[in-house]
Amino acid sequence: GGPVPFHGPHQAGIATPVQDRLHFAALDLGTDSPAKVAGLLREWTAAAVRMTAAQEVGGGATGPELAPPDDTGEALGLPASRLTLTVGFGPSFFEKLKLPAPDRLKELPRFPADKLDPARSGGDVCVQACADDPQVAVHAVRNLVRLAFGTASVRWSQLGFGKTSSTTPDAQTPRNLFGFKDGTRNIAGTDEAALDAHVWVGEEGPEWLRGGSYLVARRIRMHIETWDRTSLKEQEDIFGRTKREGAPYGAAREHDPVPLEKLPADSHVRLSHPDALGGVTILRRGYSFTDGSDGLGRLEAGLFFLAYQRDPEKGFIPIQRALAARDPLNEYIQHVGSGIWACPGGVTPGSFWGEGLF
Ligand code: HEM
Repeated sequence: GGPVPFHGPHQAGIATPVQDRLHFAALDLGTDSPAKVAGLLREWTAAAVRMTAAQEVGGGATGPELAPPDDTGEALGLPASRLTLTVGFGPSFFEKLKLPAPDRLKELPRFPADKLDPARSGGDVCVQACADDPQVAVHAVRNLVRLAFGTASVRWSQLGFGKTSSTTPDAQTPRNLFGFKDGTRNIAGTDEAALDAHVWVGEEGPEWLRGGSYLVARRIRMHIETWDRTSLKEQEDIFGRTKREGAPYGAAREHDPVPLEKLPADSHVRLSHPDALGGVTILRRGYSFTDGSDGLGRLEAGLFFLAYQRDPEKGFIPIQRALAARDPLNEYIQHVGSGIWACPGGVTPGSFWGEGLF
């Protein structure tokens, strides 16, 4: 794939058609100086402009022999691969820097059955790198982290493959690790009205956040081996959709409207459907992950769930409340990591990520 424009009214990587691979990193600041952080964001933006255009960072991967090169080099010769880099600031970012946090940026409430590992949760700043080539996504995060040396360091990171949500309704819907089509009903990246209503922050937000969005990430472990011993009927009942076609119960085709009353009362789709929750909607952009096995012979695998929304109280929070209480899927999954960040609006040429904050 070619380059995705970095500049624009919104950050790329949200409404952008979902790429195949993810490298997501959460970093903690090692400074409480807004000036220092603004300097880093300026350097990051310059590097991101270059990397998303398949160019080397700074002076490039070679240079004076006695200094380490500006660019680490492993993406040399590779195409842009539709690389997007998207950043967000967590509640702790504003506390550390003593800057006013946006009203809607609050730590997420605790949900029943959460088993969150602090070492895989939170982070002052997040960077989402998506690309069709994992080497390009990993190179991008690595080089941003390198530029942050002395100002911020990685708290945790996650690699993802196999997008689990599509924002392009015409394309074939991808499948998650339970083998079901995922992202059938999602906000399309081309649906401007839905994006304005449910994804982009508007006048209600501080200026720097307008055209931006709130990102919720959840690392959800999936108990693959238990699932694989479950009957097809039970699997389908859990979602309220068929496995092969992805059709909702009571309808024939994947994209048919969902006749909610035909789905089991406690089924994942019935519980999370906007009609069951007063219109609540999110843009899902998650990826599958498999980090080898867990030492007990089980796959350390799951869904790295990413959701963008204009207001977490009208997005992730009410949906997850409904799911945490009743979703039959809970027997097969566990939320083990979590984070929330406010992602600033788009960057114009010459400016930098979050400039309006400083
Ligand atoms: C729909 C899987 C976690 C929100 C679906 C569908 C599947 C699925 C197969 C049906 C296809 C579709 O419409 O996209 C999973 C799996 C999860 C998970 C395997 C965990 C490992 C979550 C979480 C949330 C969520 C944590 C939000 C809190 C939704 C929503 C829909 C949906 C909003 C669309 C409902 C509709 O409009 O019909 N999910 N999901 N899911 N899921 Fe999940």
